[in-house]
Amino acid sequence: MSKPVLLITRKLPEAIEVRAARDFDARLNPNDDPWFRSGAEIAKRATEAQAAGVLCAAGDPMNAETIKALPASVKAIATFSVGYDHIDVPAATARGIVVTNTPEVLSFATAETAMTLMLMAARRAGEGERMVRAGKWEGWAPTQLMGVTLEKKKLGILGMGRIGRELADMARGFKMEIHYRDVNKLPPELEKGAIYHDSDDKFLATIDVISMHVPGGDATRKWLNAERLAKMKKGSLVVNSGRGGSVDDEALIAALASGHIRAAGLDVYDGEPVVNPGYFKLESVALLPHLGSATIETRAAMGQRALENLDAALRLGTKPPHAVN
Ligand code: DGY
Repeated sequence: MSKPVLLITRKLPEAIEVRAARDFDARLNPNDDPWFRSGAEIAKRATEAQAAGVLCAAGDPMNAETIKALPASVKAIATFSVGYDHIDVPAATARGIVVTNTPEVLSFATAETAMTLMLMAARRAGEGERMVRAGKWEGWAPTQLMGVTLEKKKLGILGMGRIGRELADMARGFKMEIHYRDVNKLPPELEKGAIYHDSDDKFLATIDVISMHVPGGDATRKWLNAERLAKMKKGSLVVNSGRGGSVDDEALIAALASGHIRAAGLDVYDGEPVVNPGYFKLESVALLPHLGSATIETRAAMGQRALENLDAALRLGTKPPHAVN
């Protein structure tokens, strides 16, 4: 029996491409050529190949238009990411296409990125690194680049899912007090003493640092806006390693420029890879290029998970373990 054709939009780790080529008629993108940025191009390639599946990644424009243009041969879309806000899931469901993601395996790595950003923001690490690299460091000085400690600070986790809970565990090691805001209060074994807030206002007024772990999409669009930033204490820190669209960039830039927000650490951006140039003028913001899950171990596990989902959908005829529709 011939292998199902699988269109892979992005360059993937070697072992994942080898497995994909073993089990599928895999159409790879070995040089990560940027055709994946165009939904029309993805659909054209899927049509030419008569693909049974598309293995895409965060940011690929798998919107309603792209999904509409896919050939009838496509039965599964597997994203190499936990987030699937780049996929119009109702449009896929309407066409009978199963959509899958890669949860769990990237929670620790993404929490590590949030912790990195929190430390960078608190301890002015980006600023210090830029100073040394530019040859502008003139030696140790008692008042140089003083940041703030995280010890005993109140960490507010917006979205206490798997990533938020991994971050809470890490932050306990930094002697932080954990607060969280979510739709529902967690059971005690997951909460582990973290303090639940059922209102945005009280949550924002209590915490010293916010770390955002909410999915992208209309429901969270520009959640952290000028009004909510104003409710945070002066000198608070903002960290976002979830989705860029949940922060109102102009509002955050203004709050950083005024000093109301002391510092921020961002890994994700509204409209990325474009970054609001207002951030570049600010020393008080640490900017990473969406590194959330970027460890060798995690990216390998994400690839295996994506292929397990595709195996189920296209080779075994079973329900994929991580279907989102
Ligand atoms: C995800 O998996 O959604 C991440 O943002 C990609 O690192």
